[in-house]
Order: sequence, then structure tokens, then C-alpha cells
Amino acid sequence: MNAPVLTLDGPSGAGKGTVSRTVASLLGWHYLDSGSIYRALAIAVLQAGVALDDVAAVTDVAHGMSLAFDCDSELSVWLNGVDITLQLGTETTGKAASIVAAYPDVRAVLLQKQKKFRQQPGLVADGRDMGSVVFPDAQYKVYLTANAETRALRRYKQLIEKGIDANLLQITQEVEERDRRDRERATAPLTVPDGAIYIDSSNMTIQDVIDRVTALVR
Ligand code: C5P
Repeated sequence: MNAPVLTLDGPSGAGKGTVSRTVASLLGWHYLDSGSIYRALAIAVLQAGVALDDVAAVTDVAHGMSLAFDCDSELSVWLNGVDITLQLGTETTGKAASIVAAYPDVRAVLLQKQKKFRQQPGLVADGRDMGSVVFPDAQYKVYLTANAETRALRRYKQLIEKGIDANLLQITQEVEERDRRDRERATAPLTVPDGAIYIDSSNMTIQDVIDRVTALVR
């Protein structure tokens, strides 16, 4: 039987990462941070000197890249054997990720890599199209959002905590631009999946959201 899946979709800065990682650890389930796969591809493309708008070459890079993940309290990622964890979180990477993520051929290649994460005893999958495209038959689906100011402020604090230089106004603009691109693309746009529970976390603590999502499964 297929392992159970809990999907968490939503825009950037909604708190999906922290909530998904914590809930996966509480349930003892595997964790898929699908955004990190698109981010890793963006890094691989930039490293290879491939132009972000060269769809065929970007798709080739997606085919050829090898990724390894380790999720302890934080997620670490290796691209072709090299630790890229620090580069993964920057807004430059996020922006490039959302550009390559709009290409249907790229999404088709990465779809297979994501499906492999579905293993017993279960999977918590975090992204934009987890409940709509990658795991449409998931037993539990959540759409987690918050208003734009709250999300930009959270992103800003996250970057500062990681020691990455950030400017709030610039982050707000980048978050809005990235969300617009993710919502408006033709393939697997950010959307509320059928059957998803909608949570607006603007006035909730992260712990409230974790409790609510965990209760859904338990
Ligand atoms: O979630 P995160 O900010 O790491 O995602 C980076 C980018 O990767 C998103 O802005 C989006 O364009 C893309 N992405 C996607 N589908 C997913 C996860 C991320 O298109 N399931």
C-alpha cells in the first residue's frame, strides 16, 4: 500500500518549512522540501553557466544533477557531492528557482524525483503543487498562507537569522514578484488543492499551526 502523505502548499514565507519539518519529526515521517529541489537546480544551472531562459539546457541540467538530503533539525543538501546548504536559502537562488520552475519539461523531470520520497511510514511534503500535482491522492492536505507583509517579515527574519544580508523593502518586492510568477504560470501553479484545509497563519503562532496540522493526522 502507498505510504500516507500530508501535503503543505502555500506561498513563500507562510511558515511551511518550519511547520512541515516539525510535524514530520513529531510523526516520525519522511520530509520532502520540494522547493529545495528547484533551488538546487537553480544553483546547478548558474554554476554550469547556462542561461536561465535556455529551456533545453536547463532541462538537461535537471536530468543530470544528483541530489542528497539530510534532514536533522535543519535540512542539508548536496548537489553532485558538494554541500550547497548555505547557498540554498538566498533570495537570488529563490528567484532563479521560480524562473526554472515555470518550465513544464523541467517539472516533468523533477516530478519523478519527488515521488520517490513517498515511503513508509509516511511523508510530509512541502511546496506549491504537492496536493494538486505531485501527490493528488494525499490523505491529508493543507494550504498554509499569511498576508504579504507577515510573509515578507518572516522571510526577512529567517535570512537575518541565517546570517544572510537582507533588506525588508527589497524582500517584500521579491516575495511578491516570486508569488506572482508561481501563481500565474501555466504548469502546476500555486493553488489551493481540492480537499485542502485552508489555514491563514497571519495571526497564529507557529506552534498553533503545528498543533492544528498534527491534530489533522492524529
Ligand atoms: O519553497 P521555496 O521558496 O524554497 O521554493 C522556491 C521556488 O521553487 C518557488 O518560488 C517556486 O517557484 C518553486 N517551487 C515550485 N514547486 C514546488 C516548490 C517550489 O515551483 N513544489
